[in-house]
Amino acid sequence: MKVTFVTSNEGKYREAKYIGERYGIEVEWLRKEYLEPQGNDLKEIAKKSAEILAEKIKKPFFIEDSGLFIPALRGFPGPYSSFVFKTIGNEGILKLMDGIEDRRAYFLAVIAFFDGKNVLTFEGRVDGKIATEIRGDKGFGFDPIFEYDGKTFAEMGDKKNEVSHRRRALEALFSYLNKLKI
Ligand code: IMP
Repeated sequence: MKVTFVTSNEGKYREAKYIGERYGIEVEWLRKEYLEPQGNDLKEIAKKSAEILAEKIKKPFFIEDSGLFIPALRGFPGPYSSFVFKTIGNEGILKLMDGIEDRRAYFLAVIAFFDGKNVLTFEGRVDGKIATEIRGDKGFGFDPIFEYDGKTFAEMGDKKNEVSHRRRALEALFSYLNKLKI
């Protein structure tokens, strides 16, 4: 089967296409920027964005929204990850974490899938910690400060895609689609 992924991020599309192939699902790219409503809940934001898009795109599609959550900072930057990355960046997060012992962090990805009638959500999460310095030159965003099993995502290269939050959310969506057998 074929499903459309609405995103302006080519990296996200490539990852989805690669994982889709393993599930026998063809991922079609609709390159498009869309309005993301502000809010405190990633799931609500993704769901609302998909509902707004569904008024224009009449066929089934999905979008993906993700964020970095740091419990010691009460979940910051969470749904504001994109803005925080663009403003204070990785250096800023490291400064905020200065002297904090509890360095646990997780990435959360929410996929909102419009099936032609309703919007369904699927989530993926990966747990790790905030490194004490920037390490690695691969990946994007917070990858150089997010440590998983002793390495930052930016040091892991393609291996990141085997464990990432996005991978887990995509697998949840693709398993669901395969069960529908449409
Ligand atoms: P969005 O889902 O494109 O809105 O992503 C929100 C922000 O979270 C991005 O600007 C990135 O900075 C960050 N982010 C999301 N996923 C990842 C990831 O896999 N690695 C590093 N940063 C990420």
